[in-house]
Amino acid sequence: MSSTESPTGGAPATSPRAPDKGLEARLQQTLPMARLEPQRLPGCGSLTLALINHDFPTGPLPPDVMRAVIARPAYWAFCWGSGLGLAQRLLSEPHWVRGRRVLDLGSGSGVVAIAAALAGAATVVACDNDSDALLATMENAARNNVTLLPCADLAQVPDGLDIVLMADVLYDRANLPLLEAAGRLAHEVLIADSRIRVLPDPDYRSLGSLEALTMPNLGEFDEYREVRFFHRRRPRSALVFEGSESRPAHG
Ligand SMILES: C[S@@+](CC[C@H](N)C(=O)[O-])C[C@H]1O[C@@H](n2cnc3c(N)ncnc32)[C@H](O)[C@@H]1O
Repeated sequence: MSSTESPTGGAPATSPRAPDKGLEARLQQTLPMARLEPQRLPGCGSLTLALINHDFPTGPLPPDVMRAVIARPAYWAFCWGSGLGLAQRLLSEPHWVRGRRVLDLGSGSGVVAIAAALAGAATVVACDNDSDALLATMENAARNNVTLLPCADLAQVPDGLDIVLMADVLYDRANLPLLEAAGRLAHEVLIADSRIRVLPDPDYRSLGSLEALTMPNLGEFDEYREVRFFHRRRPRSALVFEGSESRPAHG
């Protein structure tokens, strides 16, 4: 294997850029035995992310490490199957984002935001409320030579978005209110998720599914291989007046 070859993706990682040591130190605060390594994603051209080492041992963790992981899971050190599936879809169907103002909500490693930028989005805001995830997103954006606008708080996302993207954010039912928040931010929302089969909002229609695995795959359950897509598009007028006391003069 050459020094630039990804052991997990099977494709060479073209970027010679080494993982950022500061980011790796953040990962090691919870998982002292972990490393970051560049991994090229299947079906995503040259898109490369710095992710947790593919040979990280899958056995039980020591109790103190387990407690640290539960307290602050480094979700950003993985490319989740839904993020991979949505990235593949954006790159093969760039009309979703081309020339548009995009928000990736729950960016994690940045996989979806980076794919949107590579697919020709006009601007991409990457929002994550985990500061380490936002660092990882921006580090991976630099690795792939794309520009993203970081945002640590959904309440501070700029106005004027065309579409909100969300991949693997609904793993926790406590995050379901994010669906409504996303709908307030843009008239169009595209969701990829392998953990939820039906969305509680009937305005979403199914856009099929594909099979994608979390990378690196450290023993993911088979039931999470199927990534489902959900889409909602509302008329722009509905967005302007929803939640507002005011009504159009003739309304
Ligand atoms: C499982 S990861 C998925 C990351 C990436 N989208 C992917 O598919 O690889 C979920 C991410 O959503 C972020 N997240 C959860 N709730 C959030 C919120 N209210 N605002 C912003 N980010 C949030 C988490 O910090 C985490 O980075």
